[in-house]
Amino acid sequence: MLSILAQGLLAASVVAVNNGLARTPQMGWNNWNSLGCDVSEALLLDTSRKLVDFGLRDVGYNYVLLDDCWQDGRGDDGYIRVDEQKFPHGLKWVAGQLHDQGLLYGMYSSSGEFTCARYEGSLDHEEEDAKSFASWDVDYLKYDNCYHRGRFGYPEVSFNRYNVMAKALKATKRDILFSLCTWGEDYVHTWGMSIANSWRVSGDIYDHFNRPDALCSCTDAKDPFCVAPGTHCSVMNIINRVAPYVDKGAPGGWNDLDMLEVGIGGMSDAEYVAHFSMWAAIKSPLLIGADLRTLSPEALSILNNPAVIAVSQDPLGKSAALVSRNLTVPKDQYGEGETQIWSGPLYPNDQLVIFLNAANEDLEIITSLDEIFVRHGPGGSAPHTKEKWDLYDLWAKRMDTSVAKKVINSPPGTLNGVKGWYNSTETPYKAGLEAGDERLLGTKVGVAAPGEIKVKVPRHSLKMYRMRSQKGPIKGYTITRDEL
Ligand code: GLA
Repeated sequence: MLSILAQGLLAASVVAVNNGLARTPQMGWNNWNSLGCDVSEALLLDTSRKLVDFGLRDVGYNYVLLDDCWQDGRGDDGYIRVDEQKFPHGLKWVAGQLHDQGLLYGMYSSSGEFTCARYEGSLDHEEEDAKSFASWDVDYLKYDNCYHRGRFGYPEVSFNRYNVMAKALKATKRDILFSLCTWGEDYVHTWGMSIANSWRVSGDIYDHFNRPDALCSCTDAKDPFCVAPGTHCSVMNIINRVAPYVDKGAPGGWNDLDMLEVGIGGMSDAEYVAHFSMWAAIKSPLLIGADLRTLSPEALSILNNPAVIAVSQDPLGKSAALVSRNLTVPKDQYGEGETQIWSGPLYPNDQLVIFLNAANEDLEIITSLDEIFVRHGPGGSAPHTKEKWDLYDLWAKRMDTSVAKKVINSPPGTLNGVKGWYNSTETPYKAGLEAGDERLLGTKVGVAAPGEIKVKVPRHSLKMYRMRSQKGPIKGYTITRDEL
């Protein structure tokens, strides 16, 4: 039997992530998807000003994240060095500049000998590096998985390797959001929440909606023989990979579907709308990947839609779930094509429903209240299925392109005369929803009643509705966490 002292030591060695951060999925910007290793002090400062001037900070994007390629080896003292060409004033100075604008500062390292771009990694130097990050006033660490010296292949091995950094960060006593970049390896969705605020579920995203690529070999979340999560994972690949375990995301720890491709240029506008909407519905972190210095008005008007961001930042923190999938639809030249219906609870008593058309044709997608509320009770047994629900289109109030253009091109510092901007610092999403703010509710476009519900959805796009019961909160069966 363990002595009381030994039991105490064991308990102390488990770091519960309960660090108070990421109570809703984190939002911000990261350079990697559009700029790779082309990082510098000027890039971070220019970007931070754009976040403020475009109103993106106000709708919630508050983390500025520096990805790989900032390192310059390690000194004899064991401490990691910063590339002084790229960051002449040092990283603490950068953090100060960001903090002065009401933003937070994040950085990247790898739980490996090297980072993925082969710069200095943090493996076996976790304490020194955590101290450095804290001393530079860092608020966020993205922690990658490259060159781990073979310390993987079994969940506990990966858990223990990542836990060293979790403990080192905790020991600094600074609030540092901890984001695992483990590409879904070693069943991270079963242990990530114990030590981190988010965990990547797939290989790296690329700028395509559904094109398969051999570099992204894992398509099945249940496949234990997935040897290389890889890169070049499409939006649909990532959605299908996370679908079986979306319920693992909860306030404080989220499934990370990777950074957004919106605005980078490889997808159509409708595909970007679908990508962004699904990331919000599944409660992934929303990290803009586009270069804000050249952002298009169309991309801005996707990223700044408060009705969809309110879904991401919903106080219940429950992911939508896949309730039906149809594979017998027209396929494209890659043999890909399907439709999906996603549904999930929204604060206070609403329901999200999404009709996703990833088939190769415009289609009418059919569902019913029984299907939408299947997780409230199977076979139409939930009381919700007997009611009438107003349908609010969450994209109906999307900012007009001409207005977005004005925002981008006008002089900085004024929000460019555009009125009615949603400011989530002044009015958090919860308060906005409680006040019935129309910018968050979308536009009422119809009613869903018992019987067939049919929605026309163009190819490679989605329809996304907030459903609100006409008679107020439905009493009866209440959904719980495990039953998403
Ligand atoms: C890995 C990660 C990416 C990015 C690069 C940087 O591929 O998954 O998100 O951080 O490394 O080298």
